[in-house]
Amino acid sequence: MEQYTNVYGSLAFADSNAALAQLGRYTADLKKLVRDRGDVLKQIEQAHLNALTLLSRAAEYRDDDTGVHMDRVGALSQLLAQLIGRAETEAHMIRVAAPMHDIGKIAIPDAVLKKPGGYTPEERCIMNGHTLAGAEILGQSDIPLFQMAADVALTHHECWDGSGYPNQLRGTQIPWSGRVVALIDFFDALTMDRVYRKAFSDEQALNMMTAQRAKKFDPEMLDIFMDNVDQFIHLRDDINAADREHGALLREDASLLASDLGL
Ligand SMILES: [Fe+2]
Ligand SMILES: [Fe+2]
Repeated sequence: MEQYTNVYGSLAFADSNAALAQLGRYTADLKKLVRDRGDVLKQIEQAHLNALTLLSRAAEYRDDDTGVHMDRVGALSQLLAQLIGRAETEAHMIRVAAPMHDIGKIAIPDAVLKKPGGYTPEERCIMNGHTLAGAEILGQSDIPLFQMAADVALTHHECWDGSGYPNQLRGTQIPWSGRVVALIDFFDALTMDRVYRKAFSDEQALNMMTAQRAKKFDPEMLDIFMDNVDQFIHLRDDINAADREHGALLREDASLLASDLGL
């Protein structure tokens, strides 16, 4: 009996040791799986970011908007998202989603998009369709980042008072992301040189925005923007300086390459 107990006991001991070892291996395998899964998810996220960046660059060719406008709209939208108290992940997402706001312009014929002077009502209608086209392109995916980008593309011309397009949404019917980008895009577009006009001064632009309080813009959001306007101007100027430096470096590289090639 004693022997049996011993045998039984040591067997049990051996079994539990083996089971523990097995459990250890399972845990290690599981940890590796989780790590691998994390790596794959990171790669997928990176691929999404790359796809969105490429799409936004494609849209640039169709418009007089520049890459640096896209960068500014992304960064300033992120700052506004933080200031209105959105979660960090949402603020991070809007940085990537906001530059896509005009992606739908790739679907607008050149005859309309590049037409100098004013539009006929039909042309205006075609032009306004860039919101629907953008939402259609980006809304194909149910990945949250693309969903937000689709929301932004669809609603960045809606107005707080319901006078915008394409769906005449009003107030909080407009997703917060669309309200943020409407405000930031307006500010940034006014304060940059366009083919058809010089930039407005910051002061002029801010006055024009205040005049749109509760008309075009969410009043609370506009108040927060105005209360922190120095931060926005600072960030914009930093991005412009980095772009000038980066642009200068690129030009330097090009001229070095040209001299290497004996040009
Ligand atoms: Fe637009
Ligand atoms: Fe824009």
